[in-house]
Amino acid sequence: MFRKILLISILLVVNHLILFADEGMWIPALLGKYRLADMQAKGLRLSAEDIYCVNQASLKDAVCLFGGGCTAGVISDKGLVITNHHCGYGSIQDHSSPEHDYLTDGYWAMSRDEELINKGLTVSFLVRMEDVTAKVLAGVTPAMTETEREKAISKAIAEITRAATEGTSYSASVKPFYYGNEFYLFITLVYTDVRLVGAPPSGIGKFGGDTDNWMWPRHTGDFSLFRIYADANNNPAPYSVSNVPYRPAKSLMISLKGVKKDDFTFVYGYPAQTQEYITSYAAGMLSGTSDLNKVKLRQKILDIMDDAINQNSDLRIRYSAKAAGIANGWKKWMGEMNGLRRLSTIEKKKSFENEFTKWVNSDQERVRQYGHLLGDLKAAYDELTPYSKARDYINEAAYQVEILRFARNFTSLADLVKKNAQDDVIAAEIKRLKDECHAYFKDYDKETDQKLFTALLGMYYDDVELRFRPALLDKKYRNGFSSYAVELYSKSIFVSEERVIAFLSGFKRSSAKKIIRDPAYLLYQGFAEMYDKNIRSHYEELTRKILALNRIWMKAQMEMQPEKEFYPDANQTLRIAYGKVSNYSPRDAVQYSYLTTLSGIMEKDDPSVYDYHVPEKLKVLYKNNDFGKYGEQGDIPVCFLAADHTSGGNSGSPVMDADGRLIGINFDRNWEGTMSDVEYDASMCRNIVLDIRYALFIIDKFAGADYLVREMNIYNP
Ligand code: ARG
Ligand code: ASP
Repeated sequence: MFRKILLISILLVVNHLILFADEGMWIPALLGKYRLADMQAKGLRLSAEDIYCVNQASLKDAVCLFGGGCTAGVISDKGLVITNHHCGYGSIQDHSSPEHDYLTDGYWAMSRDEELINKGLTVSFLVRMEDVTAKVLAGVTPAMTETEREKAISKAIAEITRAATEGTSYSASVKPFYYGNEFYLFITLVYTDVRLVGAPPSGIGKFGGDTDNWMWPRHTGDFSLFRIYADANNNPAPYSVSNVPYRPAKSLMISLKGVKKDDFTFVYGYPAQTQEYITSYAAGMLSGTSDLNKVKLRQKILDIMDDAINQNSDLRIRYSAKAAGIANGWKKWMGEMNGLRRLSTIEKKKSFENEFTKWVNSDQERVRQYGHLLGDLKAAYDELTPYSKARDYINEAAYQVEILRFARNFTSLADLVKKNAQDDVIAAEIKRLKDECHAYFKDYDKETDQKLFTALLGMYYDDVELRFRPALLDKKYRNGFSSYAVELYSKSIFVSEERVIAFLSGFKRSSAKKIIRDPAYLLYQGFAEMYDKNIRSHYEELTRKILALNRIWMKAQMEMQPEKEFYPDANQTLRIAYGKVSNYSPRDAVQYSYLTTLSGIMEKDDPSVYDYHVPEKLKVLYKNNDFGKYGEQGDIPVCFLAADHTSGGNSGSPVMDADGRLIGINFDRNWEGTMSDVEYDASMCRNIVLDIRYALFIIDKFAGADYLVREMNIYNP
């Protein structure tokens, strides 16, 4: 016992010191205040203004939020951007069909007219950010209830964003930091005409597939190229033939110099979510309930989807993007659970909470302010856990059955009829549904979905408390759900494009009852009603309570450790992380070095395993040593490791050297380090970066799109 306490206290001290190693995702506008000196001491040769500046062009102008959740970097003064293959995946897939399968074969526009339009794809640039805490909290008083507080804050935010955007083409948002203790305004320019320029074949861009995902050694050429278009004034505009390539204030200089161990690097991008400051109770719920259940359910989904994918190429196209998305979370959460266990994160948090309690008890005013805090948080998480579990099962089991999600989509049409809406409103809704239909069924397979239905609802039935089970599930249970599935998939209109289109084309007001009586819709309704009745209000009330308690918890931690520099948890705002190019040891007696090469790709080549098919042309280039100016010591570097603290959303982030030149594109983390969203471990956490030379080699030598390389700004010492 004593040894355990000793170990935990050592870990606590170590943990504290680690913050002064490479942990943290910092706010670019505050770099000069907090991290610049440390970055420069570690090798950075730039000023704070080179990285973020409002009055002149700076590196921030070459970094954008790509789509809903990735990052991209601008690499030419004609609006060319580079991001990950997995970030462009949805767009590449949209343009793919069995006749021209760009996912498998890749796609390269050999001129501007061959670039492909992507409906709905946007990129957004940060114009400036500003601390607006005082303005947001101006109307808040200590006497307010949480609801009153929320109202006052929303009102202030609406006013701030209105004032910031009025009469401009800017968009604006205000985001909470440190759990609502601070607020920042973000002014952005959102470009909506973003075209696909190039993507390598899966054998490069997704090489290693889900087998290698989240792993090192890695050999994935995970990049794709897009081009941003603007109107004649360089402003955002919807797609038009008259749009012209966007002219960025800044584009990145690409370095062919390469990386060595211990080189300084930094990552500039949009990490989406971390939770470094949560309590032991929250961490316990995360690893002991949430991760655990989601991993179990996704394992099942993947078994079924993989069967489909291995059947034929048509099913592969339909299900590979879906399976990749499912597998990604599945594997990450597994790594996260392992990492948290290995680091004894929960124990460490508990012992920190004990320290906190001592600190509180040593002062009457603190007792008044914080005396109840941890007890309240524990009670709230205890209460939340069963609801959270049921929600996970609804989302990860019930709504992973596509027919149920699709049926849900028809709720609004049924509601419109019920509300006696105007004909044109109903017609517009019918059109919306028809438009969605084709894209949906393009990637749908009834047999596979029916298997998912039987398996996932069975798990729901077995694992979830009775009070969270829709009555219909009980009624239909006959030693499982296969006979129910047969009945539902033969009767429902939602199983095929023909049935749905025929239904919508002949739609009359009286047809609405066909929706309501459809067996798939009925089951979806069963879940929705049960959720509304037994989960929603409890869940919302508890999460709101926890949010408010966490705000106080965050503030209290900052008060208790005044000397510690707290970086705010990631919240999909622009951040800087920095660290060195580094090796690591994943376990006893194993050493991983920081660089992989094309030779390693040839080693992994295995025609019998889909994930390891190396394209013929790549083999030829390798055999002929045809590496152009991108090689190093008779090989091509492919990926490298650094100790930058990154998270989901950092995919596609430019990785820069000490001079701010682009050396790589971030795309992943190592499996042993995926718990970094909750606890960063400097010895184990690494980000995985595509070496920019491999990307250029593929563009130039493999694809023959050298016109793109000529457009870039290249530094070749
Ligand atoms: N793990 C990386 C990230 O979280 C890449 C995911 C895409 N690749 C895949 N094989 N599923 O985004
Ligand atoms: N692959 C992740 C992404 O898409 C990056 C990460 O989680 O490290 O953003």
